[in-house]
Amino acid sequence: MTSKNPDKPLAFPPGFLFGAATSAHQVEGGNHNQWTVWELENAKSLAKQAEYKLTWLPDWQGVKDQATDPSNYVSGQACDHFNRYREDFDLLRRMNMNAFRFSVEWSRIEPREGVWDAAAFVHYKKYVGQLRSLNIEPVVTLMHWTLPVWFAEKGGFARRGNVKYFVRFAKKVFMELGGDIKYFCTLNEPEVYTSKGYYWGEWPPNRQSRLQAMWVYLNLASAHNRTVRAGRRLGGAWLFGLSKDCAHNYPGDDAWLSRLSAALANWALDYFFLNMVRRKLDWLGLNYYFSNRFFGYRIHNPEHPQNDLGWTMEPRNLQFVIERLSRKYRRPIMVTESGVADRGDRYRKWWISASLAAIARAIAGGARVDGYLHWSLLDNFEWAFGKWPRFGLAEVNYRTLSRRLRPSALWYGQTIKKLRR
Ligand code: FCB
Repeated sequence: MTSKNPDKPLAFPPGFLFGAATSAHQVEGGNHNQWTVWELENAKSLAKQAEYKLTWLPDWQGVKDQATDPSNYVSGQACDHFNRYREDFDLLRRMNMNAFRFSVEWSRIEPREGVWDAAAFVHYKKYVGQLRSLNIEPVVTLMHWTLPVWFAEKGGFARRGNVKYFVRFAKKVFMELGGDIKYFCTLNEPEVYTSKGYYWGEWPPNRQSRLQAMWVYLNLASAHNRTVRAGRRLGGAWLFGLSKDCAHNYPGDDAWLSRLSAALANWALDYFFLNMVRRKLDWLGLNYYFSNRFFGYRIHNPEHPQNDLGWTMEPRNLQFVIERLSRKYRRPIMVTESGVADRGDRYRKWWISASLAAIARAIAGGARVDGYLHWSLLDNFEWAFGKWPRFGLAEVNYRTLSRRLRPSALWYGQTIKKLRR
């Protein structure tokens, strides 16, 4: 692999983390949380809505059958990763990876308020132990959007008084699993969680209230800060971060309104939250999927190809997001997610290659980047879209549950081998 100058190979620092990411709810199967309840209530309606909401997708004909089938919208056994994790970690090993991001499922660990499930900890201990035995660095997310039903029923993060339950859960995880963990990621994409669930009303709990959305956002910032404080008090040598979804927002022309809109987007979508937690970040996780090009206050993206979800693909802009965040927050950045819904595996290799080149350029320019964790290891349950979007390095056959590394994954594995130092 080479950068723009073909004679100059990409350079990554020693110990750079090359890996993949998942989240519990999307792969484990057999969960019972606020999302599984919501899926069962909404599967039929989502399948119906697909018939008029998704027909514009680039490959609508190819995904139509699945997208209009209610069973697509129920996570159910998902990839059965809960039982097949050893097989899945073998895929990491085959790709020469040295890092893996996953989340622990709060609803398994504390199925009822104040009741801890010892078996769940036994499971996650074995899970982490297995990664360690393969020399794969675990990056553990505490909240990747799913909540125990009892916590959601108490009002979830919409109530400040509930933050203490999350902190208590986090402390329990630090004590039970912390011995084997260096990187903890408190929250996944607080902005997406809040806007989808409380502003647009598309995800559980389907609220459409600016006021409540703001409140949830503030409470999540507080949850992060209090969790990190609690973790530091426990005295472990942990490094705390969170995963923030950040786009590359840029003006399409020189007009003042275009420039202002891009700057406002950075502020409203990124800095507003990050400024509240910046003192409690050892590292900053970045989830990058798209860019927004502003003309005036409207977004018109270039005519780049789109992935199966209709997201315009501009992987090289990852460089600019890293540079922006790194200048502003002066923390090591870890790319905790980035990838494509690409069932034909037409774009994934190009995406990864352009992303690695973008990271290498950011590093050469002075940014500190500690890892690239591709989304995702496996095809998985893509929230309200269900199972048809295919983000996996490994293709999952949902009937037989067999896995197969896609050609892009085999290529990525060879590339990692060459790049690892
Ligand atoms: C991110 C989520 C992740 C996955 C990808 C495609 O926003 O964190 O769970 O759904 O998008």
